[in-house]
Amino acid sequence: MVCLGNICRSPLAHGILASKLDTENFQVDSAGTSNYHIGSLPDQRSIAIARKKGLDITNQRGRQFKVEDFDTFDYIYVMDKSNFENVVKMARNTEDISKVKLILNESFPNKNLEVPDPYYGGDSGFDNVYNMLDIACNNIAKKLKSTSYLR
Ligand code: 4NP
Repeated sequence: MVCLGNICRSPLAHGILASKLDTENFQVDSAGTSNYHIGSLPDQRSIAIARKKGLDITNQRGRQFKVEDFDTFDYIYVMDKSNFENVVKMARNTEDISKVKLILNESFPNKNLEVPDPYYGGDSGFDNVYNMLDIACNNIAKKLKSTSYLR
């Protein structure tokens, strides 16, 4: 799960998807394209909405997306088009590029919709982001659990 800061959107996506998959078979992680918040806890507003929904994301710390992530992960879900461009810029080949997906295309195929950056808004932005990520992650978890989707 990738966003810009790795403190608002992708930590929520990370926590939500991890809660829907078993850790024996799946590894879920998140990162930011920027180096702004390396080592930081998720934003307090992300921690709060996650807690309200029964998820603890305080074990997460900000890190920056790195090229080796293309080797570690089969799927790289980005929150918006600028994340998409920044991640694709780091790709080494077409296989790397094929792993990168706008997360809301899992809910609205081919629409290329974006998860809005809630950083500069109020708490309602985080509610909204949580709800759209929860639906997208349900769709991702369902797909990942169907064996035909496993690599
Ligand atoms: P995120 O939100 O990409 O969802 O983690 C942001 C967090 C911090 C900043 C921008 C977006 N920032 O500019 O510090």
